[in-house]
Amino acid sequence: MVAPILIRACTPMELPALIALLDEEFVFSKSRKVSLARRLPTALHADNCANILLACRGEAIAACVVIKRFDWITPERSWRGAMIGLVYTRAAERGHGLATQLLRAAQAQLYADGTAFAVLFSAQPAFYRRLGWIGADCGVFGTYAGTAGAAEHCTPADAQTIEAMRRREHGAHMARDGASYRSLPLPAERLEMRASIGAAAYAIYGVQADCAYVYEIGGEPSGRAALWQDIRAAAATVYINARRGSPSAQWFAHIPGIAWRDQALAMWLPLAQPACARHFGDWYIPYLDRI
Ligand SMILES: CC(C)(COP(=O)(O)OP(=O)(O)OC[C@H]1O[C@@H](n2cnc3c(N)ncnc32)[C@H](O)[C@@H]1OP(=O)(O)O)[C@@H](O)C(=O)NCCC(=O)NCCS
Repeated sequence: MVAPILIRACTPMELPALIALLDEEFVFSKSRKVSLARRLPTALHADNCANILLACRGEAIAACVVIKRFDWITPERSWRGAMIGLVYTRAAERGHGLATQLLRAAQAQLYADGTAFAVLFSAQPAFYRRLGWIGADCGVFGTYAGTAGAAEHCTPADAQTIEAMRRREHGAHMARDGASYRSLPLPAERLEMRASIGAAAYAIYGVQADCAYVYEIGGEPSGRAALWQDIRAAAATVYINARRGSPSAQWFAHIPGIAWRDQALAMWLPLAQPACARHFGDWYIPYLDRI
């Protein structure tokens, strides 16, 4: 007899087995490197197990969703948000409603505890739309394969230095702690954090082979040119993530040779505070903060 499905939170003991399944699906089967345990050290940590929902058949994990809770700070107030990621069903269990059940369970849990809204990033919008998620993405994605030139040798920066610059910027943003700066988004294999001379500006980017992935450039515009010079000096292709119309996007707009396209990955779910839905088209979650 096939054991029935039980939806419940992951236990710390189950975490290594879950990470192995997720690594195979999202990392190693795609010829990528670095385990998700290192890429998402807080979301896939024993301390976050209450926010990792599993669909289990007996002892076996059949499907999962991972929730990362965060505070979203806007000029007028702070919102409790939740990000959903690593939605996964074992290949043999697909098409039987497990991911749907898990997403509904996650939504009910978040609604019940007063979470204002949830967000996720997916190239499969139809799957989430039928569960009430709304697509709205103010991100733009740039590709640059221009000539390089010599590096300016901006200095490596620690999380505190970057946080001091980031806090000076206005607008909606995610609250971060030191651990936020230990994330490593796919497919990068190394995270670089640099500051320009005098810590006027900063850049956070990932590196994989001869590609660089710019997650954010912030601080004083005067310091950005040196950071950009360093990034492109070390990479054959640079991919740039930015919020449409942001100071960073406006600064990049003056650089010739970047091909831009609009992103369509962000999906949002209004929960305990449905009125926040009016902001979804303007809110931008930086790449470094995503799961
Ligand atoms: C996507 C995934 C989680 C779905 O899991 P599942 O348990 O099979 O999902 P469910 O059975 O709840 O839902 C299946 C439904 O979603 C639809 N669906 C599945 N993948 C879809 C896709 N890529 N686009 C649109 N709809 C999709 C199916 O057609 C089915 O619809 P139906 O109920 O009307 O027949 C699973 O295929 C998976 O693990 N894929 C690999 C990892 C992945 O891509 N995760 C999503 C990251 S955003």
